[in-house]
Amino acid sequence: MDKLCIRGGKPLAGEVGIGGSKNAALPALAACLLTAEPVRLTRIPPVRDIGTMEKLLAWTGALVEVDGGEVLVHAGELQNPEAPYDLVKTMRASSLVLGPLVARTGRARVSMPGGCAIGARPINLHISALEALGARITQSHGYVEAQAPQGLHGAEVRFERITVTGTEDVMMAAVLADGETVIANAAREPEVQDLAVLLTKMGAQIDGAGTETIRIRGVAKLRGTEHRIIPDRIEAGTFMIAAAITGGNLLIRDCVPEHVHALTEQLRQAGAEASEEGPCTLRVSAGGRLRSADITTMEYPGFATDLQAQFMALMTTAQGIAIVTETIFENRFMHVPELARMGANIRLEGGQAIVAGVAELTGAQVIASDLRASASLVLAGLVAKGETLIDRVYHLDRGYEKIEAKLAAVGADIRRVQ
Ligand code: EPU
Repeated sequence: MDKLCIRGGKPLAGEVGIGGSKNAALPALAACLLTAEPVRLTRIPPVRDIGTMEKLLAWTGALVEVDGGEVLVHAGELQNPEAPYDLVKTMRASSLVLGPLVARTGRARVSMPGGCAIGARPINLHISALEALGARITQSHGYVEAQAPQGLHGAEVRFERITVTGTEDVMMAAVLADGETVIANAAREPEVQDLAVLLTKMGAQIDGAGTETIRIRGVAKLRGTEHRIIPDRIEAGTFMIAAAITGGNLLIRDCVPEHVHALTEQLRQAGAEASEEGPCTLRVSAGGRLRSADITTMEYPGFATDLQAQFMALMTTAQGIAIVTETIFENRFMHVPELARMGANIRLEGGQAIVAGVAELTGAQVIASDLRASASLVLAGLVAKGETLIDRVYHLDRGYEKIEAKLAAVGADIRRVQ
């Protein structure tokens, strides 16, 4: 199993290019199942979750051609509208094929995702919304089975809590349903907006994506198209924090500054400098010790839960006490004991972590527990004194493209070891 070995203490300097968004690419790939014509997607990040989704599409009967960051999906016929456990167990986002499969073929059988390191993560909201659209859903033997032999119909769906992939799943089901669907309390994440852009290019009629109410008028058929995925705001945010935590100076290219606005504000509050140097470029720098700043994770446009662990790593060496409140997932503090092994002073109280900044972290052997927790350990390793060895790096490979190469190119002492 691969490990990452980091010798901390080097301020990062230079330029980093951000890749395509994993969480926008996953629903975009699922959306390709909605048409019998070929769809070409570009800026698809070659990370492990994407490979899993491509396998899943191929399993259902779609032809999938991958050429670097370009993926061509041709779902001419779908003989096998199923997502088997072996694929779903490694990637929860597989539930994103439920809506498209039932809309396109009238049936879908998708393995229930199990729990994961950050929380229970049920899909009950996806299921009740699809039922409102007329799907008959049964659950047995660990599978969710949806049937709609006569097709789906439009409906009013009000999510009792905001769900990102739930909103995406229902949007994909509703585009081929008969009549109008209104999704209330919808997720407003940029990834939801990007999916709406793709679906609209395919011929769907969608209004309001990016607001809390999305209206979709169903159409009989969708067509093939081409689409470039938006940049990954979580990768951009991770590099912004890398610049700040090392007291470095990074130019972050190919990002959308608006998508990381909440993080930019908190970095400034902590004493780092962040400025837009063009429509797709941000510069982040810091000198001297940062100040503590509190964060509370929220749905977009609030502070992203996917950047909570990384921001906490930054706060471990800031001056003062920072309160990190997690409101999206009930168990997203697995990085805390690992950061503590590196000398961080963090106390957990329910959904809050109280981080008292220490003068320095020291390198240690630590274990990555999930994707974003792993990123926080990399960030801590970049500033810790001595050597940090991070085990179970496969979590990181699920969502970051060549993170060690990108960090090494801007001056980090980091290498992958077997
Ligand atoms: N929830 C339910 N029932 C549902 C769906 C969600 O109770 O049917 C709960 C969840 O358990 C959670 C909350 O609602 O407590 C919000 O979950 P959401 O459904 O929004 O999360 P998700 O769609 O499963 C996506 C991202 C996550 C990101 C969250 C929150 C993808 C593929 N995944 O997950 O990304 O943390 O939204 O922004 O888009 C990551 O990339 O590391 C990652 C975990």
